[in-house]
Amino acid sequence: MTAPNRHIVVVEDAVALAEAAADRLIERIEANPGRIAICMTGGSSPKRLYELLATEPYRSEIPWDRVHWFIGDDRFVSSSDPLNNMSMARTAFLDACAPLANVHPIKTDAANPDDAAALYARELQSFYGADTFDKAKPLFDLVLLGVGPDGHVASLFPSYPAIEIKDRWVVGVPEAHVKPFVPRVSLTLPALASCREMLFLMSGEDKRAILTRVLKGEDLPANRARSDGETVWLCDKAALPDDARG
Ligand code: 6PG
Repeated sequence: MTAPNRHIVVVEDAVALAEAAADRLIERIEANPGRIAICMTGGSSPKRLYELLATEPYRSEIPWDRVHWFIGDDRFVSSSDPLNNMSMARTAFLDACAPLANVHPIKTDAANPDDAAALYARELQSFYGADTFDKAKPLFDLVLLGVGPDGHVASLFPSYPAIEIKDRWVVGVPEAHVKPFVPRVSLTLPALASCREMLFLMSGEDKRAILTRVLKGEDLPANRARSDGETVWLCDKAALPDDARG
């Protein structure tokens, strides 16, 4: 199945989805002999993938000293709170595998979400070496994304002003549209787009309703999020709409 600039890959189930995502991540790493940047997603969708990366054969295939790990959004809670997205990724694999200097959390101990957003934007810009994007030089090798029940990606919720922002890399989001109802900090659509590949993870029947709306082309953040390079939706069969399951 294809749509303009979007490629849909269907796998059997959640286990196959985590393996397929890990394989794509390794391919992206192998395609870049230099410094690599991965932008992770939060929520429950990527947990199995993250745990897999800490196990063989993936663990030995990742050149950990060359790979930098960022997060597309975080909940504005303490870095040790289980609700914190980076904390989940750390527990699942980063603490065991990645050098601390290569892990780039959003600073949720800043005074407020806007300050945390400004700090993260500066960190990203210093890593990138510029404060405007050059389409020939993507910020990230891979951006992972999940989709919420309302069609949000990262913490860019439908009809919130943050989805229109073109001139900032990271924004504070004072109120979430879905649980957990804590303030958020999120990369903007242009920052997420600056990647070689954007990989959506869609698993389980809970995702079927929103995937149906996405595939119908509704104006949702999930449909506005497109990579400047390749955009791939990795879906398991349970997540597919009835008419697409075959
Ligand atoms: C967050 C996210 C968010 C998430 C989707 C999907 O902090 O909640 O980064 O965008 O990816 O809500 O969440 P699930 O994977 O839990 O369904």
